[in-house]
Order: sequence, then C-alpha cells, then structure tokens
Amino acid sequence: MRKRRISQFAPLLIALVGLPARGKSQLAHRLARHLNWNGESTKVFDCSEYRRRHMALYGSHDIFRADNQQGSAIRRKSAREAVQDAVLWLKDGNSVAIFDGTNITREQRRELNEYCISDMGFRILFIECVCEDQELLERNIIEILHYSADYKAMTEEEAVDDLRKKLEHYMRQYEPIDANLENNLNFVRVENMGETVTAHKVSGQKESGILGYLSGMRALPQTLYFTRHGESEYNVLGRIGGDAVLSPRGESYAHALAEYMNGLAVREPLTVWTSELHRTKQTAAEIIAPKRAVRALNELDAGICEGLTYEEMQERFPQEFAWRDQDKLRYRYPWGESYIDIMTRLRPVLSALEDEHNVVVVGHQAVLRCMLGYFLDAKLDELPYMNVPLHTIVKLTSYGYKYNIEMIKLPIDCVDTHRKQPKNCSINRSTADALVTVPSHYDTLPSNLWQNSEAQP
Ligand SMILES: *[C@@H]1O[C@H](CO)[C@@H](O)[C@H](O)[C@H]1NC(C)=O
Ligand SMILES: *[C@@H]1O[C@H](CO)[C@@H](O)[C@H](O)[C@H]1NC(C)=O
Ligand SMILES: *[C@@H]1O[C@H](CO)[C@@H](O)[C@H](O)[C@H]1NC(C)=O
Repeated sequence: MRKRRISQFAPLLIALVGLPARGKSQLAHRLARHLNWNGESTKVFDCSEYRRRHMALYGSHDIFRADNQQGSAIRRKSAREAVQDAVLWLKDGNSVAIFDGTNITREQRRELNEYCISDMGFRILFIECVCEDQELLERNIIEILHYSADYKAMTEEEAVDDLRKKLEHYMRQYEPIDANLENNLNFVRVENMGETVTAHKVSGQKESGILGYLSGMRALPQTLYFTRHGESEYNVLGRIGGDAVLSPRGESYAHALAEYMNGLAVREPLTVWTSELHRTKQTAAEIIAPKRAVRALNELDAGICEGLTYEEMQERFPQEFAWRDQDKLRYRYPWGESYIDIMTRLRPVLSALEDEHNVVVVGHQAVLRCMLGYFLDAKLDELPYMNVPLHTIVKLTSYGYKYNIEMIKLPIDCVDTHRKQPKNCSINRSTADALVTVPSHYDTLPSNLWQNSEAQP
C-alpha cells in the first residue's frame, strides 16, 4: 500500500506518550509557549482535565486499574473528548494541537495515527517521554503532588501512596514505542527531559523545528533576574532610544543592584547578560560575575524618532505618533522596529534563557516587556503596555512549566517612563489629547539631581 503524503502545511497533532511523572505536561506547555511565540497557534489538550470533569473529585488510583470497568470507560471517554477538541482546534485553522494523554499501548497509538492521517488528513508526531534519572523522577513526582488538582484534598502521605499505585497500574499496561513493531509512526523519544533525543521518520518544517527545540531543552528548576538599566540621562529628559549614560540616580541604582546581586553570588554563581548599549553595561559594571553583551537585547530601534521626546514626536510626526497608539504591538517606526520585530530577534535569546539558571538580564523597557511576557504567558496585545518600572528587580522562579514573579523595588528615586494608551488615538486628535498620558520629565538635566532627588518637575 502506498502511504498517503500529507502536505507540509497541514495542521499538526502532537501526541505525548509515556508514564505519569515523566515530564509530559511540562514538555507540552513549554513546547506550546515556544510554538505560539514563533507564530504557530498552539494549544495543549490535557486528558486529565477532561477526566476530572467527569468525576466530582479524584477518588483514588483505582480508576487507573486496567480491570476497573467504570474507570477505564471514563478514561476512554475523556481521551476521546480531548482528541475531538484538538481536532476542532485544528479544523478551525490553528496550526498545532498537543494531546497530553498517556497513549501507552501500541493499539491506542495505531488507532490515533490512522485516524489522524487517513480520516483527518493531519500530520501527526508522537513524542515519547522516558525518564530513568531517579533524581529527576522524584522531582517530577513532588511537583505533581504539589500542583496537580487531583491531590488537593489528600494528605501528603495519601497522595504519595496513591501516585505510586497509579504508576504501577500504568506500568503494567505500558508498551514503549518500538520502532520495529511501529515502523510507520513518526516519533521522537525524549530521555530525561532532553538529555538524549532520538527521532524516527521525522520530516517537515514544523517537526524539524520541534526536534531542534527539544534537543536543546533542559528542565532544571531555574531562577532568573531581570532589570532595566538604571535611570539614564535620556529617561530624565523624557527622550526615547539613543545611547545615553546613566544619571546620578541611575548610578546609585547600579551600586545598589551590584550590592544585592553580589550578596546572592556568594551562595550561587551568577551570569550577567546586558545589551550592547552603554546604559546596561554601566548598570551591570559592579556586579562580580561573568558578563556577556548580547546584541539581540538592544532596545527597540525607534528609527526616525530616536532621541526625541513624545512632545517632539507629536510636533514632527503627529500621524506616526497616532498610528503607534492605535496598534503599539505591530507599529513599526520608519527605519526602525516594532514589538513584533523584537519578539522575532529575541527568539534565540529566550530559548537559551529557558535552559539557564541564575542569569541576570540587564535590559530595556520594550525588550523586557517581551521577555517577561513570554515567561508569564501574557497575551501579545498586552505586551507593549506591561509595567516594567525602573530601579526594580524582577525575579522569576520556575515551578513546573509556570513561573512565579516577584518585584523587588530598590529604594532609589527615578522618573516614571510608563506611558499609558491615551483615549484618543485618531490622527486628527489635538496635541493635548495626544500628550495626555506622557509621564512627567525634566526639560534640561538638573544640576542638582543627586542632592535633590525628591523633586519632581
Ligand atoms: C490514546 O489515543 C487513543 C486514540 O486511539 C485514544 O482513544 C486513547 O484513549 C488514548 N489514551 C489515553 C489514555 O490518552
Ligand atoms: C477626526 O476623525 C474622526 C475619525 O477618526 C472623525 O469621526 C472626526 O469627525 C474627525 N474630527 C475632526 C475635527 O476632523
Ligand atoms: C478625537 O479627537 C478628534 C478631534 O478633536 C475628535 O473628532 C474625535 O471624536 C476624538 N475621538 C475620540 C475617540 O475621543
């Protein structure tokens, strides 16, 4: 029989395979975040959420026994619903659906493969998660116990016992993917969350990209620090872009930041990433750690508006200024960049950062909005208005595939550079309407800024 060829552009269903606690959900959500950022609309369909809908509260591991009739009926039904929703998502014109079930038997995989290719005309890729590393396994189990809705109502001991029994039920049924017996499956095997990745019959643009992403993946618990540069002379004057040096208050932020970070570095080594601009290098100067200046971290290029104040932009380019307010995410400055442009150039930096620990990123407003938005799964249209104030350390700590955010404001005065979207974004608006949300700033550099740091213009 000749195998039907499915177009490169057909939607892709990704089906995860593997025992519980092998990191499937973490992989599913990280991959979804990565694909969405790369313009492939992706959604995770988690079987256990469907199962929970059929059961008021998780009873116990008993439902996972192969010989539990009612239990396996519920599980089959939930898996079917998850697959159906995934199919609807793909039929709706979206690009990737990730089916987060277990698909542990050969028969289940054969059925799903057949259904996807012959009935739907979709592409399908199986990803099998294997984990032999005991330490990693223990960590996954602890995360499941902490974060899974199944165990909310149980004591820790009950939960541990229950999860172990559930694992045993699954192990009895589990048939690892075997390339000899399942020769027509396209699959990737991921061992120990990305330590070793092997591929079988993987072809196609999307699949190759996914393979590349999985190969670079590590899944260590991580803490990342982000901060904007200290207040610059341009911040004080309300000017955008440029390559100004720090104001005296910005310099004292650099001291305070170094003191804070050097305190942490005593316990665990840090690495510092800055942009190539003076103000970030100057901010990081006193932190005792290896430093790297990364071009992709440079601030959004404002093109013809570099170095202008908002008042000057309104005066010289009122139409551009209004267009930007209408759609700040997609608006591209003439000869410059848009938020979408910097999202694109940040891709490799974000992928690299996902596998790092204890990195301090000293960056810029627009760039940090995008980076934080990525880790916090923000909606794209919200990115350009996220509040990332000066003189504040943003600490992200991973738990599972999510991140906790903590804002640590250091007590050094600075101007506010956050301009909200004004009500009137039409191109014939008055100057007053255009400037209504411009944050206050100085018109010339005050000579006494250091002594008189309380004064606001
Ligand atoms: C795996 O995939 C098959 C498709 O045939 C589905 O019917 C089955 O219920 C899935 N199993 C689980 C537990 O996710
Ligand atoms: C300004 O433009 C809006 C549409 O964007 C229009 O409704 C309004 O009449 C215009 N006002 C003036 C004073 O031209
Ligand atoms: C914006 O200002 C213009 C000109 O003054 C006016 O015609 C228009 O109705 C205003 N639009 C909004 C949304 O306030």
